[in-house]
Amino acid sequence: MSNTSNGKMADGLPQVVRRDERQCVTLTFNGRERSAYCEPRDLLSDFIRHELGATGTHVGCEHGVCGACTVHVGGVAARSCLMLAVQAQGQRIDTVEGLAPDMVLGDLQEAFQRHHALQCGFCTAGILMSCADYLQRVPDPSEAQVRDMLSGHLCRCTGYTPIVAAVLDVAARRRHRNVTGDALEASHA
Ligand code: FES
Ligand code: FES
Repeated sequence: MSNTSNGKMADGLPQVVRRDERQCVTLTFNGRERSAYCEPRDLLSDFIRHELGATGTHVGCEHGVCGACTVHVGGVAARSCLMLAVQAQGQRIDTVEGLAPDMVLGDLQEAFQRHHALQCGFCTAGILMSCADYLQRVPDPSEAQVRDMLSGHLCRCTGYTPIVAAVLDVAARRRHRNVTGDALEASHA
């Protein structure tokens, strides 16, 4: 029997992968194409940290509960401890490092700084990634909606009030910027 390019044997059965067999995963990581090797059992969270060297993504529970490992998969927030690294093949994966390209903080990060919305920072990368995704979809959230979104994240030391304040603040500033930008455009039309 011979292998085919779709990972199946010539008889149509899936190709058997040995437990310790390393596979090459190629993905778009924070806007750049990257390739690295992993075992079939490796979690995406460990792959990001150990193989791609991006340690901003933290790992807490490894059971999908704490939210610390949240990244974007194809632009949508997802827990990287609940995905296998091999599932990232061909995908676009963004992490907290991607929020500050060229080491310049984004507006969400600046709002967290302004509102003292972090202390130890262990949960912060995951919370930022969830907030970034959420604000794309819900640009004018209520406090209750923000609290509901944050309920998927465990923070053991900051308390949620300053985090909620930071998210509401950045949402308001973005809306204001959009309105001002639209008005400026209209005045130049
Ligand atoms: S480490 Fe992934 S949800 Fe806790
Ligand atoms: S800032 Fe310490 S766990 Fe959230």
